[in-house]
Amino acid sequence: MKSILITGGCGFIGSNLAIALKKEGYSVACFDNLSRRGSEILMDRIKEHGCDFIYGDIRNYEDFSKLKGQYNLMLECSAEPSVLVGSSGEDAKYMINNNLVGSLNCFEFCRKRKIAIIFMSTSRVYPYNIINNRKFEESLSRYEYADTFPCISKKGISTEFQLNGYRSLYGATKLASEFILKEYSINYSLPAIINRCGIIAGPWQLGKVDQGVFTHWLSSHFYKKNLQYIGFGGKGKQVRDLLHINDIIELIKLQIKNINKFKGDVFNAGGASFSNLSLIETTKICEDISSNKVKIIQDINNRPADIIWYITNNGNTEKVFSWKPTLPPKTILTDIFNWLKENEILLKKILN
Ligand SMILES: NC(=O)c1ccc[n+]([C@@H]2O[C@H](COP(=O)([O-])OP(=O)(O)OC[C@H]3O[C@@H](n4cnc5c(N)ncnc54)[C@H](O)[C@@H]3O)[C@@H](O)[C@H]2O)c1
Repeated sequence: MKSILITGGCGFIGSNLAIALKKEGYSVACFDNLSRRGSEILMDRIKEHGCDFIYGDIRNYEDFSKLKGQYNLMLECSAEPSVLVGSSGEDAKYMINNNLVGSLNCFEFCRKRKIAIIFMSTSRVYPYNIINNRKFEESLSRYEYADTFPCISKKGISTEFQLNGYRSLYGATKLASEFILKEYSINYSLPAIINRCGIIAGPWQLGKVDQGVFTHWLSSHFYKKNLQYIGFGGKGKQVRDLLHINDIIELIKLQIKNINKFKGDVFNAGGASFSNLSLIETTKICEDISSNKVKIIQDINNRPADIIWYITNNGNTEKVFSWKPTLPPKTILTDIFNWLKENEILLKKILN
């Protein structure tokens, strides 16, 4: 496994993976249409670390003809990752073309060229209406799971959780891609892994209101900008797990070494019960790290497809790969803060 192609290689996960894998001795090419705000910064960064950049759009199958290398593995990290895109219907076609048609083009390219693939999917495939309808108890700083239901417990949601429900167009395009990839894998003997990720956070995530919440929260403290607790009573008690980018990189390195054993197997990857926070708890840590306090406005109205609580149960991932998250929330947020400080001028125009 020598040569790796990363679609979305100038995004947060793609670029960090590219640099880490280059350091491991792989040859790495990043294919990206630079549509994410700030992705040129990450393009410069991957080039500085010796990775190749190829401009292209996964929606246009012709663009794949620019890829002349002999790749052994594709890491499919390109997407429109905002759950809000498509929620009004305005961008529905863009979301479907980008995340479904685009990823099908990636799978087809892998089939034709016999390239193994790791597909970055999302916890958003689990239906929000089923999760939100569970019973939660309200403690001082968070909502806690307090129900009995298959495949969900205080330890999190496992890969067997029921899929019949509503999940947002983002979640639906990802789940549809997962199903097709499984068929490609079994029918065409294409080694493939699907990672359903909770929130991944860390340096070089150019976070914004609708994606990259932990960078958004910390950079708002750093630049002293107001924030909002949106939905679920406007109390900031909704909970998410967070996984450091370095932890998912370690998992993917293990997956690459074993890729030939897998035929579209699904793995959860998240901070799990080890690393999760409510917004109130996030605020407290951000205040401690930045020594700044910002005004937080309360909005009781839920946003489309929002969830009250999501914690990953990494179950089979931990067993199969002998892997676990290692970096706790305060370390993740401190790493983001140090990165903001070290790159203040570069990041100001994007994050402020
Ligand atoms: N970051 C997270 O918390 C998280 C959580 C769950 C799943 N994921 C998934 O992981 C993957 C990477 O996420 P990320 O956080 O790095 O997102 P990102 O937005 O930082 O990176 C995505 C990259 O894909 C590129 N891109 C988008 N559309 C493209 C197209 N049509 N053709 C070529 N390039 C295109 C963008 O320019 C960007 O550089 C995505 O599939 C996302 O759905 C991320």
